[in-house]
Amino acid sequence: MSMAEAEDRGRGTAVAGGSGPGEEPVPSGEEPAAGGVRRLLENRLVPPGRSLRAKAAFSSVAAFETWWERSRVDPDAYWAEVASELEWFSPWQVRREGELPDFRYFVGGLGNVSTNCIDRHVRAGRGNQAAILWEGEDGATRVLTYRMLLDEVGRLANALRALGVGRGDVVAIYMSNIPEVFVAVHACYRIGALYSVIFAGFSAEAVRQRLLDAQPKVVVVADGSRRRGQVLPLKATLERAAAGISSIEHVVVVRHTGVELPMTPGRDLWYHELVAAASPDCPPEPMEANEPGFIIYTSGTESKPKGVVHAGMGFLVGTYANVKWALGLTPEDVYWCTADVGWLTFPIFALVGGMAHGVTQVVYEGALDWPTPDRLYRIVERWGVNKLFTAPTALRMLRRLGEAGLEGHDLSRLELIALVGEPLDPETWNWVRDHLGKGRPAGDELFINNTYGQTETATAWTCSMVGLTPAKPGSAGQPLPGYVARVVDEHGAPLPPGKQGYLIITHPFPSLARTVWGDHGRYLETYFRRFPGAYFTADAAVQDDDGHIWVVGRVDDVINVAGHRLSTMEMEAALLDHPRVAEAAVVGATDPVKGLVPIAFVVPRRAAGDGEGVEEAALAAELSRRIVDAIGPIARPERIYVVPTLPKTRSGKIMRRLLREAVDQGSVHGDTSALENPEALEVVLATVRPAAGAEPSTKS
Ligand code: PRX
Repeated sequence: MSMAEAEDRGRGTAVAGGSGPGEEPVPSGEEPAAGGVRRLLENRLVPPGRSLRAKAAFSSVAAFETWWERSRVDPDAYWAEVASELEWFSPWQVRREGELPDFRYFVGGLGNVSTNCIDRHVRAGRGNQAAILWEGEDGATRVLTYRMLLDEVGRLANALRALGVGRGDVVAIYMSNIPEVFVAVHACYRIGALYSVIFAGFSAEAVRQRLLDAQPKVVVVADGSRRRGQVLPLKATLERAAAGISSIEHVVVVRHTGVELPMTPGRDLWYHELVAAASPDCPPEPMEANEPGFIIYTSGTESKPKGVVHAGMGFLVGTYANVKWALGLTPEDVYWCTADVGWLTFPIFALVGGMAHGVTQVVYEGALDWPTPDRLYRIVERWGVNKLFTAPTALRMLRRLGEAGLEGHDLSRLELIALVGEPLDPETWNWVRDHLGKGRPAGDELFINNTYGQTETATAWTCSMVGLTPAKPGSAGQPLPGYVARVVDEHGAPLPPGKQGYLIITHPFPSLARTVWGDHGRYLETYFRRFPGAYFTADAAVQDDDGHIWVVGRVDDVINVAGHRLSTMEMEAALLDHPRVAEAAVVGATDPVKGLVPIAFVVPRRAAGDGEGVEEAALAAELSRRIVDAIGPIARPERIYVVPTLPKTRSGKIMRRLLREAVDQGSVHGDTSALENPEALEVVLATVRPAAGAEPSTKS
């Protein structure tokens, strides 16, 4: 990206609770912007509590540091050490070959993800241990042991094989957080099929886009999903999304909510009938370490989401290590990951990384604040959760609810909360520790682990190492063993501590995405062109004197709304699709709960005889629906401004950073020297000022 492009397209996000993006959207060795990242630099080192220290993988911090230093010298030896803790059918011949972006790990090694996540624990005598403690939004519960899961996975895997699904075929999974999602994912791993989980909150159009790209042979779908007291009709949505897609030979339907469904004879099959008729014994497919395991769609800088492809065994090795350091899960823990299965956090920390450690996990389907805002506390208490993985937005929601929400709840078992997805403000960090951790004894306080990762890296690779390294409220800790990261300037030169720059990774690692489905060129262009030989995160960050990484936010067209990654380009494309829209720009505005919310600006095409006012409100309402139809309710703009013109550069590019500053602060202090039409900025400011000063609404 050239500086000019960055100027026009760059969306360096504002930091949580902080200022706008500063003068330049792309950071380059500057001191962190006042009120921005500096505000996040709370330099207090908070050590882990007694009980986490006692359970840590090393008995002393000194022993750990010696070992850690060795792993820095030879990251691949470290990765081989991790991989050796897992089960392989036959060993690898070469530890690693190639460099970024063309690399392979554990070449020739054969293994299977499902046997590592399930069979291994059953063979170790833990078949009767609960693997899943499921709770529905309506309070219903189900418990599945590892043995039950093994049988069910075997049955579905055999059924899929009988339907002609094999190694390399694609299976789309369109369900919410129910036990069958674990079964479907591991059944695919078992037979070497690639799965692609599609978020249950997407619109039919967004689902269709993903199906068209992935070309699945089979779709596994639930009849519906429960959310906020309603049933989302997933199968009905799938009918619209899948119409005419000829790759889909079968649709396997899970009866979950019991809603009435039309079934297409020959194509549609009931899940419960298939598994009842199949044998539980399903020999696992031996998969080479670098073979693709799954596709996950994520938003990028283009108007179309991309299918990120991960190696099956590479993902297992990476997430197993990630969970070990970030959470230290053991079979004794009761663990709950609140993420939705449609975002990679759930496969990393629950479906694969969590299960690889043989943990007992709570799985909840529904809204975290339903039917009462203290639902999260109720679940933690009911199941005795001691380790929780959630998102900053959920914690900000709890903080907003206040101390009163905690009354009557005993959360004293909770010893660790880990997070991913957005910058975490120190105020929320401190509030959570003081209030959610109030039942814990001195010296054994609740530990908060802010982890940073991406769909592409598959792991949250910088965070505290639980029980071993301290946290700083708001930082994303230090890079985990095996990851070599740098903060660099625009030429790729490393910056000294305290300087803000681009965050890159310079050494390969097993869980890095291997390609973009059907478009390897896009993979190379998006992640490896900007800094040759390194993976570019598209995030700005600062590394401090203690080696802690402070992630400031994206420097591209991506915004993180309540932990959900959305492309502003995708939203703009949906707006421009409307015949009445001539121009559109979407920016992220800071929000006290969701981190960022989308704000849209549109310039209408005026038809003769158009009135003012009423017409604009109707257009805005229509456009809001348009975005929900194209992407889903999560992308619904907080506000849509209909304006006569937008601020542009002399080359005609919309200056989105000025719009962002305008919506955040009601004024613009950034560099306007490239601005061709200052009067447009005046109009924008006059339009946004009433809302910019007001408390943003948090309804979704
Ligand atoms: O901008 C960063 C932000 O979330 C992006 C990745 O989102 P996604 O691919 O959906 O991955 C979610 C985790 C698997 C990043 O580019 N992000 C993630 N964690 C943090 C964060 N920003 C600040 N602090 C974090 N801890």
